[in-house]
Amino acid sequence: MNASGSEAGAAPAHHEGAARPRAAGGAVLLDGKAVAARVRAEVAERAAAFAARYGRRPGLAVVQVGEDPASSVYVRNKRRASLEAGIESLAHDLPVDTSEARILALVQALNHDERVDGILIQLPLPKGVDANRIMDAVDPAKDVDGFHPVNTGLLAQKRPRLRPCTPFGVIRLAQEYGIALTGARATVVGASNIVGRPMALELLLARATVTVCHTGTRDLRAEVERAEVLVAAVGKPGFIPGAWVRPGAAVFDVGINRGGDGKLVGDVEFGPAAARAGWITPVPGGLGPMTIAMLLSNAVDAAYTRAGVWPPPPGRRE
Ligand code: GUN
Repeated sequence: MNASGSEAGAAPAHHEGAARPRAAGGAVLLDGKAVAARVRAEVAERAAAFAARYGRRPGLAVVQVGEDPASSVYVRNKRRASLEAGIESLAHDLPVDTSEARILALVQALNHDERVDGILIQLPLPKGVDANRIMDAVDPAKDVDGFHPVNTGLLAQKRPRLRPCTPFGVIRLAQEYGIALTGARATVVGASNIVGRPMALELLLARATVTVCHTGTRDLRAEVERAEVLVAAVGKPGFIPGAWVRPGAAVFDVGINRGGDGKLVGDVEFGPAAARAGWITPVPGGLGPMTIAMLLSNAVDAAYTRAGVWPPPPGRRE
């Protein structure tokens, strides 16, 4: 089955839409929360096997500079999820006025700390700090965000190591639901270093035909209407009207925005999009939980890789 859903029969029975919860309009809801729970269970098994073999748990350092409220929520969730998966969480909370030199010194110390397999520096960093300089200083072998140019370059050359968590989460979610990416017309809206660009590289790796839209795109509507796989990573509530969604498309909404009523909403106008799409991620409960799950998976991969085991042993899939 391709992403437009027009060819029947290729998806395994347990992935067929009929057995899955559907959004009011008819699209199959891509349950990121449930898939993330499965990924976290795999990670917990792999982390336990690592600890049994090497006498220590995989270690993930999570660095937050300042107290941006949204970042604090994400960091808290990442730390809690790490502990639940049997990954040691090493917290580094620095005041908002910490100098770039001080942050660089911490990164160097973490690079050399044998207990630390993964280093996550929560973005955004405070104004005045050069985020590129900080991210470039992270040992690529510990770069569990996959943001270092070495890891980006490896992904671009189709030999991925540590892969950016949200795009990797989109790929895993598509796999879990039997959404074929090979040959699909895939459109990414948004070209950020964190999501849009690595998402395009992941889709290319999966052998989709990839279009990336950005502020220079001339006719966004026409590009979206063509998309059999649509990934929205813009950061603006309801930016993509549901009426633009191609019937039967697989819609992955990376946006997590506060709507006017204070509720979380995505970048895609959900109701009308769900009425047209074949599959759609909810917000919340779609790619948010997947991003955290893939981060934990990367932390265990980094631990094995640093121990000289590549590719790292997979978890047992349910
Ligand atoms: N801020 C928003 N998303 C992310 C992410 O995936 N990783 C990090 N480190 N910071 C973020």
